[in-house]
Parts: sequence; structure tokens; C-alpha cells
Amino acid sequence: MNELDLACESFRKLLQEQMQRVEHMNSDKTDFTSKPCITIGLIDGDGIGPLIMKQAKRVMGKLLDDEISSGTIVVKDIEGLTIENRLQKKQAVPTEVLEQIKTCDVLLKGPTTTPMGGKMESANVALRRELDLYANVRPVSIQDQNIDWVFYRENTEGEYVLGSRGVELPGMAVDFKVTTDLGTRRIARAAFEYAKHNGKTRLSIVTKANIMKKTDGKFTAICHEVAKDYPGITVDDWYIDIMTANLVNEQIRDQFQVVLLPNLYGDIITDEAAQIQGGVGTAGSANIGDRFAMFEAIHGSAPRLIEQGLQDYANPASILKAEAMLLRHICRADKAERLEKAMQQCPLMVSVDDSGVTGESYTDAILQLL
Ligand code: IPM
Ligand code: MG
Repeated sequence: MNELDLACESFRKLLQEQMQRVEHMNSDKTDFTSKPCITIGLIDGDGIGPLIMKQAKRVMGKLLDDEISSGTIVVKDIEGLTIENRLQKKQAVPTEVLEQIKTCDVLLKGPTTTPMGGKMESANVALRRELDLYANVRPVSIQDQNIDWVFYRENTEGEYVLGSRGVELPGMAVDFKVTTDLGTRRIARAAFEYAKHNGKTRLSIVTKANIMKKTDGKFTAICHEVAKDYPGITVDDWYIDIMTANLVNEQIRDQFQVVLLPNLYGDIITDEAAQIQGGVGTAGSANIGDRFAMFEAIHGSAPRLIEQGLQDYANPASILKAEAMLLRHICRADKAERLEKAMQQCPLMVSVDDSGVTGESYTDAILQLL
């Protein structure tokens, strides 16, 4: 077979896989209000991961003390999702680690390193796919500027769906972007439901449908279809380029509430939003599916911080926010609120300069405030 035929053959296989994926999308939801025992898996990750997770575990131990003793909550350390083990096993998520993960209901995960280029897929992307975590929810708020945004990023499709499996021909490389009806409908439904139940009146759909006509065109059309079931919510459309500008436009940015968008745009704009809030170290991120959910910091494993010997200043704020989201997800809203309040009240900030403290001292203060 010549190179073009080989590429077409591999494209055909990818399309078939995608059709099968849609067939297997199921929607049996875990009901945490009635589940007698909930298992929380803890994954350290790479780089600063184990350091910030150490602080997150101290906080979890205190908040869930009674429930861990009574057995309504089981907390489980999941080993082996490290870059060393993944490279050795040549698997983004080694099989035995994935088995462990699937025994849990929810996960709190430190950042994992994604090697640039090469064949190794990101552990995040693999977990989102394996556990079908289709909604990436990222809240950003700045009280004194009246900013209260929640991003609903589609988390399993778009440019990420085939990850490291693009096609190469001589002098050419091709990646794929896939948008499905079902995949779009379920993220749109999640965003509108959130808006409806949290007093939000406006939802902004963000795409680049003027250029990505098929995929983003479908995304927009289906979001508008879903919108018909939510007459109380005003819907508007933006292209990702101008939306990126809008977030730094102080005249209008406080008017945005819920933002719904495909995977890659969501990835990029949520880093921007987190930076506006005070840095990527300050935002939490939820990856939610019907059966499983995974909560994590929005930032990466920050190997540079460790190389510079500054690991004590790794900021646990982002993973603690993710922890609060996890608690709310498993219907422990009172505990989530205690943590969020403590974080709001805490006068300390993690920072290497004179105005800041270490991650451990910051967490000591949070534990005092709980
Ligand atoms: C994120 C991260 C991931 C992504 C990386 C680590 C694969 O940037 O969660 O936003 O691109 O989704
Ligand atoms: Mg990102």
C-alpha cells in the first residue's frame, strides 16, 4: 500500500472507532445522595503534585474525619500514575492503575506531566476518555470586580479526541477534530442545568464556527437546540478570538456568567480566566461524567519550581478549590462551604517573595480556620 492509502486506511479505522464511541455513551448517573459508601481516590501526580496533594490530604482528613471513621467515606491512595511508571509501561494510564481508579467514585488528582511531542498521550486526556468525563467545569470569580464566571468546556471530543493519533504523510501532518451530536448535547445540557439551578440568567456559546464550519457549526446549532428548553436563560454567541479579548475588557467582562465551549478553546480560555483571577495556581477544575468524576488543579506539574529548589512554595490553593468542588459533587455542600469560607478568610498567600508563605504554612492557617 502506498502512503496515501495507508493514511486513508488509518483514517477509516479512526472514524469507525468514533462511531463506536458514540454508541457506548451511556448515561447511568451515580446518585451520591443515596450511596451508602463513597470511595475517594487520591492520585499524587508528578512534579509539585505530591507536595500540593499532601496539603489537600491534611484538609480532607480534617473535613471528612467523622465519615471516614464511620465508613460512609473510604479514602484510597492510588499509586503508579507517575511519569516514570507511565514511560516504563508505555501507557498513558497503566492498566493496573486504571483498574484501581475504576474502583473509586471520585478522584482528587495532582498534576501529571505530559511529554511534549512523541507518542505518549497525556494522562489527563486518557483518563477523561476512559472514564468518559465529558464536562470540564472551571469556575473563576473575583468578588471585588463582580466577576463570577463558570466555564463548561466539552472534555472528551473536539481536537482532543484522537490525541496523539494524527496521520503523517511526507511533508505533511494531519490531526483530527470530532464533534458529535450526543457529545455536544450532553455538555450543553450540563451547562444549562447548572445555569438554571444556580440563578444564572446568561449563557455564552463560544466557538470559531465562521472557520470550523462543520464541527463548531454543529456545536453551536446543538447548543441552541438545547437552549430552547431553558427560556429563562439569555443565550449569546461569540467567536473565541473576540471572547479572549472580552475577558480582559473591563467594560463588559463582568456581564458574562456561564460560558459553554468546545474542548481546545475551553482549555486556552480557562488559563486566561484563571490568570485574571490571580494566576493558574488559583483555579480548580472538575472533570465530570455520569459515573465517575475527577477533580484537579488547573495548572501543570511545574517542574521548574522544583529545579529552582522552590518546591516549598508550590501553591495548594488550586487543588483545595478542586477539593471543595469534589465535596459539593458528592453532596457534602456544608463541608465544601467550610473549606471555601476558610480560603476566603485566610489572610495568607503562598508566594516566594516576602509577602508570602509556604504551601504548608498556608494550609496550617486553613486548618485553623476550618
Ligand atoms: C488542562 C490541561 C490539559 C489539557 C493538559 C495537561 C493535557 O492543560 O487540563 O487544561 O490540555 O486539557
Ligand atoms: Mg489547560
